Amino acid sequence: NVPVITIDGPTASGKGTVAHRVAQHLGFHFLDSGALYRLTALTALRHQTPLADEHALAKLAEKLPCKFLGHEIWLGNEEVSNAIRAEEVGNFASKIAALPAVRHALAGLQHGFRMPPGLVADGRDMGTVIFPHATLKVFLTASVEARASRRYKQLIDKGFSASMEDLLKDLKERDARDSNRAVAPLKPAEGAYLLDTSDMTVEQAVEQVLRWYAA
Ligand code: C5P
Repeated sequence: NVPVITIDGPTASGKGTVAHRVAQHLGFHFLDSGALYRLTALTALRHQTPLADEHALAKLAEKLPCKFLGHEIWLGNEEVSNAIRAEEVGNFASKIAALPAVRHALAGLQHGFRMPPGLVADGRDMGTVIFPHATLKVFLTASVEARASRRYKQLIDKGFSASMEDLLKDLKERDARDSNRAVAPLKPAEGAYLLDTSDMTVEQAVEQVLRWYAA
């Protein structure tokens, strides 16, 4: 039985970084499920597939030619690690993520990441829907202000321009969309440990998750 650690939480809560480091520490595989939604969104934006065409969007998701190589994310023969982090892509990702057919198409892909010696999966519904029998479930949060300033720094570091005001507005809208949607809404899974990282360093958060896993 391959162990799975799920780390769910809102946008820019730091769960991606924490999940990645936990995976590295344990020598486990890592699934950034948000990246799959972002890759689907990027492809749809390029093909100008409208939000209304759920069937076409699900087809794109199903046939996503994606590869994860360490920190690099590839779509066909193009490295898109930075491109998928653009706000426009994240926003469209959170819209198509409300479509059941898209979620269904990506579910199979996500289950495939569960391989020995183990998996750390980060997203919104890893513990509630995709891996409900996970070994350890964590719900990682931070205040909207802490998240906005982290996202600001991330975007600037990647060479994007950003405004705090727009980011706060976007984060609040995206939180509302992720939490209020009918399918797989963002909420703590049954049995999940809550971790508020507003006043924590990444290292402290990683240590806490590892302590829970070891217990
Ligand atoms: O985590 P990230 O911001 O990269 O995810 C992009 C979008 O994909 C989120 O806003 C969310 O709507 C959606 N998502 C999801 N379920 C997941 C991961 C991401 O609905 N497991």
